[in-house]
Amino acid sequence: MRSEILDSAQFRGTCGRFTTGVTVATVMAADGSPHGITVSSFTPVSLEPPLILICVDCRAQFVRHLPEGHKFGINMLEESQQGLSRQFSRKEAVRFSGIAWHTGKTGVPLLPSVLAIMECKLIQRVSAGDHFILVGQTLHASFYEGDPLTYFNGCYRKLLWEPWNARSQEGFGDGMDWSLII
Ligand SMILES: Cc1cc2nc3c(=O)[nH]c(=O)nc-3n(C[C@H](O)[C@H](O)[C@H](O)COP(=O)(O)O)c2cc1C
Repeated sequence: MRSEILDSAQFRGTCGRFTTGVTVATVMAADGSPHGITVSSFTPVSLEPPLILICVDCRAQFVRHLPEGHKFGINMLEESQQGLSRQFSRKEAVRFSGIAWHTGKTGVPLLPSVLAIMECKLIQRVSAGDHFILVGQTLHASFYEGDPLTYFNGCYRKLLWEPWNARSQEGFGDGMDWSLII
């Protein structure tokens, strides 16, 4: 299905104005080797049951190792982990090299020192254009203190915290609210 009117660069540029966090989705292949891919399309979907989704390119190696019912991990990156994001969007062979990864409760490979971790079971794979929407039921989740790595307009960003009323003319709020500057 091709769009008659919308230019692809315009679409990409517009989507790039949406700020996201950065995750690495991981899976253990049938031969016991770990696989992972940098993914910014993570979205929480439902609280009851606890569902999340990621969107992954149909051509990505990752989807070949993830049949329905199989487990996968979501590693939410912390602000200093740009290197991991780059490493997991490069060629498959180098992705886990030099990384002290470990296995989670479900056997999925997990990355060290991340901001949060989820272990999920793939319950639905929806074909949507050139991507698959992968819906996972979260079986285990844990989070730690820290700030996230963010991605905006094709660049990595850090959050900078400053008091909200330092930037507002009227100073609404009592100084206890904080704004995020990306
Ligand atoms: C910050 C960032 C976010 C990304 N988000 C996604 C995503 O949500 N879905 C996706 O399919 N690829 C995404 N990619 C691209 C993949 O990580 C990259 O194409 C990867 O090499 C594909 O892996 P493959 O070897 O399994 O094909 C992203 C890359 C970066 C750097």
